[in-house]
Amino acid sequence: MRKKVTVVGAGNVGANCALRIAEKELADVVLVDVVEGVPQGKGLDLLESGPVQGYDVMVTGANDYGPTEGSDLAIITAGFPRKPGMSRDDLLIANYEVIKTATEQFAKRSPESVIVVVTNPLDAMAQAAQWVSGFPRNRVVGMAGVLDSARFRTFVAQALQVSVENVVGVVMGGHGDTMVPLVRLSSVSGIPLTELLDQPTLDAIVTRTQNGGAEIVKYLKTGSAYYAPSAAAVEMAESILKDKKKVLPCSALLEGEYGIHGVFVGVPVKLGAGGIEKIYEIQLTEAEKALLAKSAAAVQELVDVLKAKQ
Ligand code: LAC
Repeated sequence: MRKKVTVVGAGNVGANCALRIAEKELADVVLVDVVEGVPQGKGLDLLESGPVQGYDVMVTGANDYGPTEGSDLAIITAGFPRKPGMSRDDLLIANYEVIKTATEQFAKRSPESVIVVVTNPLDAMAQAAQWVSGFPRNRVVGMAGVLDSARFRTFVAQALQVSVENVVGVVMGGHGDTMVPLVRLSSVSGIPLTELLDQPTLDAIVTRTQNGGAEIVKYLKTGSAYYAPSAAAVEMAESILKDKKKVLPCSALLEGEYGIHGVFVGVPVKLGAGGIEKIYEIQLTEAEKALLAKSAAAVQELVDVLKAKQ
């Protein structure tokens, strides 16, 4: 039987997630959005692309969660996007309400599923989805590291004129200004980056990665990135749906790993049928540990605001 994925939010990120899932024939897709007609229209349009693109999955749209029943996975993208000058954190309260409703409605109809959160501020929203769903920590995961490392890999490939496929980029920490691109652990086909690029170039790539989301927002003016974010979310979904067990940087609830307790932070994880099947706790230098702790503290601040609201 075909798998079933619910995509919450039929905006640019959600619609592109649905498109990528259909084109990869990963699952039937239910696109849910509060705006009347939009999920239905985009869903039908995607379905009608099937004969040309050659995919045989069902894509439907709805304004309620009835049709999502029995989903294997949800990708939650709903929420307000950033405008120029806004940080991801500025979206905290408004998007918390969106995530709360979406998670409540989805989780009770698909209690065995895995939830992939994309809405910003990412790590805090993943944490909210875990609270509201009551799912164990292995079944709620945030999308950030795959996107952030994709940006890092793009910039490294550009600088060296090599294939992006050969660039391994490790990015940890929260999805914000405090994210931690780990140059020491990044490579081109195993060759350490530090042997290929000088320090000023590496520093510039790290800074551009940290500001990668804002760089796109500045161009688009009315919203944020969606091609790379949807690609990243679907890579995670694919690893879970096909039990590929890819090792990817994702936001996970840490319970003592890296000395961090009770907060979602980006770390390397194994994604398979069970969701997060393993959190890798790698040896970090003192400086890297300090950066990760700083990043976790920034997420904790947002989570504390949400806790006070509950
Ligand atoms: C970005 C937004 C979506 O990084 O967080 O592009």
